[in-house]
Amino acid sequence: MISRRDTLKLGMAAGAAAALAPTALSRAAPAPEPIITRPIPKSGERLPVVGLGSSATFSAVAGSEDWQRLRNVFMSMLEHGGTVFDTAPAYGASEEVAGQIVRESGLADELFWATKLNVAQGGSADPGRARAQVETSFQRVGKQVIDLIQVHNMGDVEMQFSILKELREQRRIRYAGVTTTFPRQYELLEQTMRAEPLDFIGVDYAIDNRVMEERILPLAADRGIAVLAYAPFGRTRLWEKVRGREVPSWAAELGIRTWAQYFLKFVISHPAITCATPATSRPANVVDNMSAAREPLPDRAMRERMAKHIETL
Ligand SMILES: NC(=O)c1ccc[n+]([C@@H]2O[C@H](COP(=O)([O-])OP(=O)(O)OC[C@H]3O[C@@H](n4cnc5c(N)ncnc54)[C@H](OP(=O)(O)O)[C@@H]3O)[C@@H](O)[C@H]2O)c1
Repeated sequence: MISRRDTLKLGMAAGAAAALAPTALSRAAPAPEPIITRPIPKSGERLPVVGLGSSATFSAVAGSEDWQRLRNVFMSMLEHGGTVFDTAPAYGASEEVAGQIVRESGLADELFWATKLNVAQGGSADPGRARAQVETSFQRVGKQVIDLIQVHNMGDVEMQFSILKELREQRRIRYAGVTTTFPRQYELLEQTMRAEPLDFIGVDYAIDNRVMEERILPLAADRGIAVLAYAPFGRTRLWEKVRGREVPSWAAELGIRTWAQYFLKFVISHPAITCATPATSRPANVVDNMSAAREPLPDRAMRERMAKHIETL
């Protein structure tokens, strides 16, 4: 049986052969810039700066009859150089359906699989239920080792992060972290970043949502914590803002042709961001998103110009 990895290799080999043919060579467009990667500070392992999230529309499709179409979303991400996939038991059918797809397609080991733990629901978490949730996550993806598990929405961090530390010591997970996108939890996030041995945090960050730049991103850089940038489009917020509008012509200097590339290049040009995980249910949008992960990125002055432009809309 030909695995997905073999299929990808065959495709690449065919591409390489075609590239060597003299007629193709003479007509060849310049090779695209390689995908930008950033190191996870605690290990030095490099990750592509754009990945894939799975709440929102991904989760809606995962829970529908059309769920098989998400297979192409994964294949497009891998073919275009992405590896990071962010999910959670709380995202409806996302984790289960994504797990089934990657197991059946033999893709699980090619992905950096990031899931979450939270059985606290605002109060204290029962350790037995928390461990059971983690075991379900393992069964869903079928990997011996999960790359990253984070405590979702700062739920009972003391108890749940202690389970993640244990799993990390046992080498069942490679990295551990915490997430939040709720301003009321930012103070607790900051305290946790100072007190706990976090490898990762996952936080909301977008061109029109820059509060993370004030304290959390500098602290992450200072303490060597990797950052997943969540909701880089503000889910629907930025799309509503730019509906019916063209990307400004000066953004072409950065190779930007779409609003997704504009928003993502802004997010990943912050040096503390390790990877942005936009969610999508469409292969064409994955390709669009992955193409933002290539040079050039905006410098500080260009970032401000980009943000000001969005403020005027
Ligand atoms: N506390 C937490 O742990 C937490 C909280 C929030 C988010 N997250 C993670 O971060 C991920 C991303 O955040 P999010 O899902 O809230 O929102 P988002 O990524 O900011 O936006 C997703 C929306 O953008 C659309 N989209 C994606 N690519 C596009 C493109 N190239 N062109 C046009 N539209 C595009 C998607 O629709 P289409 O399907 O039509 O492309 C979807 O409606 C989540 O899925 C989740 O994995 C974690």
